[in-house]
Amino acid sequence: MADILNLEKKLAEYKCDTNKAIRLKLVRFAEDLEDETTSFSPLYSHQVFGDEESVFGYKDLEIQLYYSTCSLTTFFNIKYSSKVIEKYDNVETDISCPGFKEYHERLQTFLIWFIETASFIDVDDDKWQFFLVFEKYLEDGSPRYATVGYMTVYNFYAYPDKMRPRIGQMLVLPPFQGEGHGAQLLETVQRFYTANPSILDITAEEPSEDFVKLRDFVLAKLCQELHAFVPEKLKKGFSAEMIEEARRTWKINKHHSRRVYEILRLRVTNMSDSVQSSEYRLDVKRRLAIPFKKNKKEATRLSRLMPEDWLAQQAEMSVSQEQEYLEETYQSTVEQYRHILERLARV
Ligand SMILES: CC(C)(COP(=O)(O)OP(=O)(O)OC[C@H]1O[C@@H](n2cnc3c(N)ncnc32)[C@H](O)[C@@H]1OP(=O)(O)O)[C@@H](O)C(=O)NCCC(=O)NCCS
Repeated sequence: MADILNLEKKLAEYKCDTNKAIRLKLVRFAEDLEDETTSFSPLYSHQVFGDEESVFGYKDLEIQLYYSTCSLTTFFNIKYSSKVIEKYDNVETDISCPGFKEYHERLQTFLIWFIETASFIDVDDDKWQFFLVFEKYLEDGSPRYATVGYMTVYNFYAYPDKMRPRIGQMLVLPPFQGEGHGAQLLETVQRFYTANPSILDITAEEPSEDFVKLRDFVLAKLCQELHAFVPEKLKKGFSAEMIEEARRTWKINKHHSRRVYEILRLRVTNMSDSVQSSEYRLDVKRRLAIPFKKNKKEATRLSRLMPEDWLAQQAEMSVSQEQEYLEETYQSTVEQYRHILERLARV
């Protein structure tokens, strides 16, 4: 316990409040450069550093942004007493690794505290694959590895001769959350399978809201480099080329590449332009409306087989209610996408 508290304390030293770390200065004379009393801090830095207005990785960070008082030409400098060096390792393994079964049994006890629908897995099934993150540190000069987080993946068979890995559970231990380990781990897994030609694409089991956020960010980061997702193509709509390139390059399935397309298209859409914003809204809403259309078709076809209360519920959902629901879902979807774009902008 004491070790964890020490580690938390140590990591906290590397998290900086950017409203304090940024030092602005109006320089009249050369001496002002050295005069600490003339500097001042911003009130807001969220537009550059995100809603938390913080950065991780530097101790005693000072971001100097000095302006000459007359012409407002700028001087920019970054100072810190120490920086976090790359000290995390990602490891892939399966149950055949000696000692891993016992280690995993202890590790998965954390799931019940942090995942609402957690269930323990049957590790004797050799289709499970495990990805772990460790922090490397030194104790009396010897390297040690501290557990940071992990992900389980089940390799399902996909007809006729492929595999379709499904992400089961993912956990980054709380003292390490919010530092980018989750995104790094997911990207590692994505890259790991990409190298394997027998993999069709990657799916996830009942993804939580936090996981979807993480996945949106990682997949959008990977796809923004692809030819099929360049701005001119994004503006023309979701295409077979996007599905194909995202699947071939990053093993991304169709549902996820559609979401990535909507996120990246939002970035290149001028939402204050009425034509562009209405084209975007219609495009997203058409996709959001698909389940309604399917429901209606199904209801007509299967009406005799459906329970009465279900039919009544469907009938109750009038057109205006449907539109209201679509509008609300559209607004919250765009809000989520903006959040992902803000994170992408910070990379
Ligand atoms: C979901 C989970 C795996 C994410 O792992 P993580 O390591 O915290 O993920 P990241 O650090 O990459 O991203 C998390 C947030 O930290 C922020 N962040 C990352 N690095 C940062 C940094 N250096 N400075 C400030 N913020 C940072 C990200 O922007 C992100 O913010 P957002 O959630 O508002 O978008 C983790 O929170 C977890 O284990 N939760 C409990 C279990 C769970 O829900 N698992 C998923 C379903 S099985």
